[in-house]
Amino acid sequence: MKSLLGSLLFLATLVTACNAVCSLEFRKGLPNQLPGECVDPDGGKHPINSFWVRDCKKCFCREDAISCCSIVVTPVSYDKEKCQQTFHPENCTYSVVEKKNPGKFCLVEGWVL
Ligand SMILES: *[C@@H]1O[C@H](CO)[C@@H](O)[C@H](O)[C@H]1NC(C)=O
Repeated sequence: MKSLLGSLLFLATLVTACNAVCSLEFRKGLPNQLPGECVDPDGGKHPINSFWVRDCKKCFCREDAISCCSIVVTPVSYDKEKCQQTFHPENCTYSVVEKKNPGKFCLVEGWVL
């Protein structure tokens, strides 16, 4: 019984974590939407049922909405005294290096999406 409760809690946490990285925007609430196409805030056009990547998010065009999920994994468990994280927008990744010696990568024990 205890372990069942434990795995349910684990699942609930997992679901919450997943919700945080995805967002759904209804096309009716967005400007400039064309029939059969999703239009980005910057004007990019995408047909229904297609995927694209924008601002480090993978987006999907639906009939009624645009759903976007983050593809960035964030380092959460490392020596924060000694190390610092740097985000690279060009490839949507973080690197964690020593503050005093930025050429040296730090050990990261946990990442979250
Ligand atoms: C992402 O880009 C940064 C900066 O150009 C580079 O240092 C890093 O190695 C790249 N990461 C991956 C996973 O390609």
